[in-house]
Formats: sequence, C-alpha cells, structure tokens
Amino acid sequence: MANTILIGAQWGDEGKGKIIDVLTANADVIVRSQGGNNAGHTVIHRSKKYILHLIPSGILRRGKVCVIGNGVVVDPIALVAEIEGLRKVGVKIDKNLLLSDCAHLVLPYHRLLDEQRELRKGRAKIGTTKRGIGPAYGDKAGRTGLRVSDLMQPLLFSKKLQAKIIENNSILQALGARPVNFREVNESYLAAGEKLRPFVANTVLYLHRALERGREILFEGAQGTFLDIDHGTYPYVTSSNTTAGGACTGTGVPPHRMDRVLGVMKAYTTRVGEGPLPTEDRGLAEMLHKLGREFGATTGRPRRCGWFDAVATRYAAMINGIDELAITNLDGLDNVDPILICVAYCLNGKRLAVPPCDATQLANCEPIYQQVRGWNQSTHLARKFSQLPLAARNYVKYVSELTGATLSMVSVGPGRTQTIVL
Ligand code: IMP
Ligand code: MG
Repeated sequence: MANTILIGAQWGDEGKGKIIDVLTANADVIVRSQGGNNAGHTVIHRSKKYILHLIPSGILRRGKVCVIGNGVVVDPIALVAEIEGLRKVGVKIDKNLLLSDCAHLVLPYHRLLDEQRELRKGRAKIGTTKRGIGPAYGDKAGRTGLRVSDLMQPLLFSKKLQAKIIENNSILQALGARPVNFREVNESYLAAGEKLRPFVANTVLYLHRALERGREILFEGAQGTFLDIDHGTYPYVTSSNTTAGGACTGTGVPPHRMDRVLGVMKAYTTRVGEGPLPTEDRGLAEMLHKLGREFGATTGRPRRCGWFDAVATRYAAMINGIDELAITNLDGLDNVDPILICVAYCLNGKRLAVPPCDATQLANCEPIYQQVRGWNQSTHLARKFSQLPLAARNYVKYVSELTGATLSMVSVGPGRTQTIVL
C-alpha cells in the first residue's frame, strides 16, 4: 500500500473514518498529525458504532500501532475518557497506542476562551466545536503552550500551569467569565497524565524506525481542506493544517517518504459550523436530515448540505496533490433526480474556476451548475463498480474527472463491506 496521506477534500466529515478503517487492513501504523478532539471519526465495527475523537481509527483493528503525533493538540482528560470508553467495549489499548511528548495540551481555560470568543462574535461566530482548539494552537504559536512532556514532569507542570492560570484568569475575568481553579485543574490533569504516561514516547523516532523496517504508515487527516488554517475559508476554519503538508510537520516524517495522497470527498457537500458554502441547498439538507443523515459526530449539530462543488474539490486536489479519490455517501443521492454539480462560480459577473481567498467574496459567489440524471434506486448492496446503476457510475466518474484525480474507492454505506474498490 505504501505510505499514504489521507485527507478530506471538502469541509470535513467526508467519511474519512470509514475509509481509514478500510485502508488500515493493509497499514501497520496509523498516525494523527493535527487537530484535536474537535474531530469525530465514525467507524462501524462488528455492527457497533464507534466515534473516535483523538485516537486514530486504526485502534479498532488488532496488531496495528496508533500514534498521536506532535501536531495534535491533546486534552488529556478527553483522551483518558476515550481510552477508557474503548476499553469498556472490549478494545485493547496498551502497547498499540503512542502519544507524542511534543504534542500540546488543551487546558480548561482554552475551552472557556473558545466559548467566550464565540459569544462575543455574536452573529459573526465561527461555530467552533468549543473544544478549545483555537486557543490551544494560539498558545503553541505564541510559544506559551504546555506540552505532554511538561505533564510528565509534575513539579514543572504545576509551576507552569500556575503561571498560565493567573494570566488566563485575568483575561477570563475581563471577559466576564468565571476563572478556573488552579488546584482542581492541577490535580485532574496530573491524574490524567499518570494514566497517559505508559503511552508517551518520542513518536518521531518511533515512526522513523518503523519506516526503516519497511512498515507502512497511514496518515489520518482530520477535518478537511477548506478548514485548513492557511488554505481554508479563513476565518471560518480550524487552527491546524488539515492539508497534506500537515502530515509532515505534524509527525516529523519528511515529504519524500510519502508515497501517495488519497483524498476523501462526499458525493455532495456538507459543512458544520459557520462560513461560506457556495452550493448550500436547503431542500437537499432537509431530505438528508429526514433520512437521519448528516448530524455532526462531535457536537450532534445538523450539518449544512449542498451540491457537489467541483471548484472546491479541484482546488483541494491541487493543494494536497491528491493522487486518488474515495467518494463516500453515494447512497445519500439514491433518490435525488436531477442532481446538480457546481462546475464554476460567478462573482460580480466574472466566471471563476478557483475559489477566492476572501470568505466574503466566496459567500458572494453564485454556483454555475450542470444537471445530471439521478439513478432513483438503492446502491446499498453494490459491492462491485459494475453493480452500480449506470447513472451512478457516470456520476462518480464525472465528479472525479472534474476534480482531476483517479477514482479508487466508492462508499455506499457505513459498513466496512459497503466499499467498492476500483
Ligand atoms: P474548531 O476546530 O472547534 O475551532 O472549529 C472550527 C471550525 O471547524 C468550525 O466550523 C467547526 O465546525 C469545524 N470543525 C472542526 N472539527 C471538525 C470536524 O472534525 N469535522 C467537521 N468540521 C469540523
Ligand atoms: Mg467528523
């Protein structure tokens, strides 16, 4: 399989969890390189549904090593809860999980600041997951963050934490929010730290040794291209590099060791949270929500839905260097006819083939659509490409062509077997 970077080609929730789970069968090591517990990767395993937030989806398969890389921001309390939750349902977690000592910590004041900033923005809010992700990466870039290595040194941690809490409490108080209690945070974080100690390692070294031994690594992207801090619809983005480059910086594995980039995209478009979504369509959203689909895995919020946006995915293919495509949720369109595909934008009378950098301009873009025929039948049972209705085959071929990458997988349901490999 070779070392693969798997990324979302849209606004997150492309169904990466399921594709990762399928690919994990052939990988040895699965690594997360960015984001935090804002992510929600849904995997159906032995007819049970698992939602993973911080731990790579590979944890559900035996004999695989999962790594939380240096680029991830880790809420230790949330990570311990996730480990314990998985153990309770029989998932083995011991030597198969590693946590980078360089990963930054998410602290309670990050969550409170996230909440306060959103409140203050009012209607201009980002619609964050309120997991403290932005403020935690803010501290990292500001060089005032606390890391897993600090947590492994209790005396040092307490000292640094005290200073950080004094500083952040004055900010929280100025914002009219309640301050955090040093003793409570210190105790609960140190306790979580002790539970995490067995997993903490120099993961850069581990990954390089794995490469030397010819192990295959799968880089599990979280969120999606247009939530990238640099390339997304700023400021309506998350605070990490969700694009392919983030897999290198977030793990310490150099670019020339990456063999392929697999982009995952839905057969339509969704977004959870605020910000422009040019192809948004209420009718489509209503239909999908009625089917019980498209509710956020982390926050439960209904996702906004729209038609397939080839302007966005073509740009994503370029930024990420997508070699291969996995198209998911094809079954979501089973009863839609006709189906619209956005092939260009129109902004102030001008035709655009790439999304503008500015979020306001993007919000003002009118999609230019092409209409194609639907297939009006269930695709749930298809296991081979030839078993898909002709109109469905034409649809996935066409959107891959517009995106400019080779189609390698089509998903027609949440189960492992509901995956067509081309
Ligand atoms: P944050 O990452 O919690 O700061 O949220 C910033 C934006 O990214 C919001 O629009 C969130 O809804 C979105 N977001 C964050 N994580 C995910 C995810 O895993 N899937 C989809 N959207 C996400
Ligand atoms: Mg998700």
